[in-house]
Amino acid sequence: MDGNRLSLTAGDPQVYAALAGEERRQSRGIELIPSENYTWPEVLAVLGSVLTNKYSEGYPGRRYYGGQEYTDVIEELARERARRLFRAEHANVQPLSGSPMNQAAYFACLKPGDTILAMELSHGGHLTHGAPVSHMGKVFNFTRYRTRTDLGGAIDFDEVRAIALKSRPKLVLCGHSSYPRELDYAAFKRIADEVGALTMADISHLGGLVAGGVSANPLDAGFDIVTTTTHKSLRGPRGGLILCRSGLARAIDSSVFPGLQGGPHMNAVAGAAITFGKALQPEFKDYARRVKDNAGLLASGLAARGAALVTGGTDNHLMVINTVASYGVDGDEAERALDRVGITTNKQVIPDDPRPPLRPSGIRLGTPACTTRGMGPAEMDLLAGAIVEAIVNRGNEASVRELGARIRELCARHPVPGLAAAA
Ligand SMILES: Cc1ncc(COP(=O)(O)O)c(C=O)c1O
Repeated sequence: MDGNRLSLTAGDPQVYAALAGEERRQSRGIELIPSENYTWPEVLAVLGSVLTNKYSEGYPGRRYYGGQEYTDVIEELARERARRLFRAEHANVQPLSGSPMNQAAYFACLKPGDTILAMELSHGGHLTHGAPVSHMGKVFNFTRYRTRTDLGGAIDFDEVRAIALKSRPKLVLCGHSSYPRELDYAAFKRIADEVGALTMADISHLGGLVAGGVSANPLDAGFDIVTTTTHKSLRGPRGGLILCRSGLARAIDSSVFPGLQGGPHMNAVAGAAITFGKALQPEFKDYARRVKDNAGLLASGLAARGAALVTGGTDNHLMVINTVASYGVDGDEAERALDRVGITTNKQVIPDDPRPPLRPSGIRLGTPACTTRGMGPAEMDLLAGAIVEAIVNRGNEASVRELGARIRELCARHPVPGLAAAA
């Protein structure tokens, strides 16, 4: 046990007990929430370091506090590695998480009341893409494009263009939390150019796939701004990254600080520097490829067992099962049935869901975390079977216990990085 842990055991046994419980939960269960991952042991170490003590308002070489000789090195490393990783002219590594990252990006180029064209939320968009309950939905005027269920979930770009010509957005936004298909960035860019709008892609979910070269990079299609969280498929600490062309660098930087935030969390910025360094290694390409291959295998294994998948499958790391259509079970009940056997997923609305968000029609699954644990084709087949079994047999106690034991065995063979073994 290291020094930090020792002091936590004695210094706050209540928090320590909950931490130990969470470690056990993570070791013994399979994480299939597509926005989660196991970060690198080096990142866990730096998050718990003395960097958390330091205030660093401003940017390298232009800080509002003294004592920045080491924090400047760290932020410069993070910025330079991020630029290299994503082929970007400029990177801001300070956003505290994904939501403030998007907020800062909007305010860098828009005024309150301006129009943003974004994906319909139940079709895959994120809360910060203008949900009425989010502050962003109140500050900006969002108009919406949708996916076409009759075209296998494709986006109809004639329709996107027609909406853009009518609503004259200042910003065309693409990106998603639950859309399992590739996006045609060039098509979005053409429409934005036609109406004189800027382009922004929120690739929070795809960050690791883009970094690993298995998903398209919107910057290659000439996008103005790209945002990504660092803690999902990228495997980093919780945080946000804004990439842009150099002409927008000043606006982005001043929108993050002092526009929106005060002091950056330098322990997380150091974790991001480590993460980008890891993602620049050749092994990360292999990881990204395996995440995507595993998702394809899991999706086909589920479909073969009767699961109705939104859009019929996946091109990326995530998929959505319509559990009502497949098994007559809503997403909340399916999520709870899976929890009971140690498989963690999340309930999910499907396009134009007739059901409410807390009892929606589906669940969302993804493969970044289980791939980090070294799972591959054989495990994807086992998991597809286990997921269907857990939902269908949810009322049978003996079956639930037996399946739970099988999942624990599987997990014991695939330890979580940074945790010694399944406790
Ligand atoms: C596409 C997208 N953007 C932004 C966010 C917000 O990130 P955070 O939860 O770190 O605020 C998420 C999180 O799920 C997301 O999926």
